[in-house]
Amino acid sequence: MILSIANQKGGVGKTTTAINLAAALASKGLKTLLIDLDPQANSSMSFLDVRALEKTVYDTLSDPVATPMRSIIQLAEKLPSLAVAPASIALAKLEAKLIGELDSHFRLKDALDSVRSDYDYIVLDTPPTLGIITVNALVASTHLLVPIQSSYFALEGTDDLLETVEKVKARANPQLQILGAVITLYDKRTLLARDIVEQIRRVFGDRLFETVITKSVRLEESPAYKESIFTFAPRSSGAFEYYKLSEEILSRV
Ligand SMILES: Nc1ncnc2c1ncn2[C@@H]1O[C@H](COP(=O)(O)OP(=O)(O)OP(=O)(O)O)[C@@H](O)[C@H]1O
Ligand SMILES: [Mg+2]
Repeated sequence: MILSIANQKGGVGKTTTAINLAAALASKGLKTLLIDLDPQANSSMSFLDVRALEKTVYDTLSDPVATPMRSIIQLAEKLPSLAVAPASIALAKLEAKLIGELDSHFRLKDALDSVRSDYDYIVLDTPPTLGIITVNALVASTHLLVPIQSSYFALEGTDDLLETVEKVKARANPQLQILGAVITLYDKRTLLARDIVEQIRRVFGDRLFETVITKSVRLEESPAYKESIFTFAPRSSGAFEYYKLSEEILSRV
């Protein structure tokens, strides 16, 4: 499975979901590759010292000669089943660089051809835009997971995302499936919260995951210590919920 975590809304929990889901899968012994496709490189920073990196995803995607994914870093001691392909700020230049290139939407898919069989799961963290990077992710993926922040404007932009998915399915990647949506940053104390869940359920129906990710300070803190929630705070609600989400995902594929 190649799973895109995407929502062009910023700050909805894409990165938090990508890093902890990848860690949950890897902790089950499943060979997992986390690819960071966001110029902000938050997923990369959550596991690696990004200053020390020589090659990043940008080098692979900007190369006009189809190249296999380079720059994959194995997280040896901490989580031997997890590897990370880090991003860098250079990715912000990719859109301009690929203008007019006929294969621009297929760069990531082509780069993954030679490495996909090395992994049980590949998780893609995407930037908060619907540009060429997110389209590359959708074209390369078998499935899409949409994190939706439990907030008043939760569903704003979802139409555009689903429209982009339909366009990608129409030609470039007919096998792309919407695996589901997961509610993040949930705060059960607010009166709005339950209304919002109902609204989201109306759009996604039974593709809305039962697991809800609640607000938790531990989830915010763990990246600063370059750890997933499972080693940083194994007994926290965040660890429990992301583990449950990983189980639900495995049961759907
Ligand atoms: N369940 C949660 N509880 C508390 N804080 C959270 C939770 N999920 C995410 N956060 C925090 O909210 C902020 C945004 O989350 P995150 O970076 O995962 O979102 P994103 O969608 O990847 O953002 P961007 O669009 O900028 O890439 C971060 O500071 C993160 O630590
Ligand atoms: Mg992010």
